[in-house]
Amino acid sequence: MSAKVTKVAVMTSGGDSPGMNAAVRAVVRASIYNNIECMGILRGYQGLIENDLIPLDSRSVRNTISRGGTFLQSARSKEFRTPEGRAKAYENFKANGLDALVVIGGDGSFTGAMVFNEEYGIPVIGIPGTIDNDIYGTQFTLGYDTALNTVVEAIDKIRDTASSHNRLFFVEVMGRDAGFIALNAGIGAGAEEILIPEEDMGIERMVESLNRSKINGKTSSIVVVAEGERSGKSVFELADYVEENMPEYDVRVSVLGHMQRGGSPSCFDRVLAGRLGVKAVDLLVEGKSNLMVGINNNKITATELEKAVKLHHDINTNLLRVADILST
Ligand code: F6P
Repeated sequence: MSAKVTKVAVMTSGGDSPGMNAAVRAVVRASIYNNIECMGILRGYQGLIENDLIPLDSRSVRNTISRGGTFLQSARSKEFRTPEGRAKAYENFKANGLDALVVIGGDGSFTGAMVFNEEYGIPVIGIPGTIDNDIYGTQFTLGYDTALNTVVEAIDKIRDTASSHNRLFFVEVMGRDAGFIALNAGIGAGAEEILIPEEDMGIERMVESLNRSKINGKTSSIVVVAEGERSGKSVFELADYVEENMPEYDVRVSVLGHMQRGGSPSCFDRVLAGRLGVKAVDLLVEGKSNLMVGINNNKITATELEKAVKLHHDINTNLLRVADILST
């Protein structure tokens, strides 16, 4: 039987996402509820290697639920990928009297947690936090809903200026490997075309479709492009291509960039953070480890970290058809 957890550490790791603070708050308050002490590790695994930790109690997470970013800060640690780095991290872990770890982040962060567990037997639980929504074992990751709302609001504004000048806008959104943001925000903002990493939509098809739109009387259009779009062309190359082949269009490019990762979390992300944080601590109290908490069909679930890291969260490509029908 695994030993009782008495002092848990929580960290945020990898790219930040709205709702991470709310999840830290939930882990802290659920720990205290279960008579477990809590410490925050600053700057993810790198902070653990450098012994940069702070004690956390209920009051130290006051007024954090509405804040974007992560007050624990985040980093991608190269040193933690080495056995020497992990040995330093373990020394600090023990010196602080810690006996379990909750990692809020994406698959790279979960891989680190699994290796740490394998080498040192520390119970680890993952909470999925990334705006990309590309993690197996959960329908929604923390920050995705907020990012969708941010992107839709930005595209609505771009639409105002696009229609005032009869322009065609290419809008690049985040998603190096996944098109969740592009596809769903694209539909939400009524985009004429959506290009994602998962499907090769073909540039010619896009040009034909834009031509059809023009014939159907559209005077301005929005093309949403995920960063990792399948053709491998940058948003600027795509815009150049359309400009050359459709000189009648006045083309502009807008790259939304990191503003998509910031901002106050939506109510959905705050509630999700609360539910996931409480479940993470429940699992530790039950003596469980190597699991990622997630939400599926509105139930909080636990998935093996190994599966969360190795398996793929497939996008619903039927939505491309919906987008196509709605943009005629
Ligand atoms: O958080 C994931 C992500 O938003 C990707 O969509 C994007 O490509 C990447 O982060 C950008 O990360 P960085 O902060 O390193 O530029």
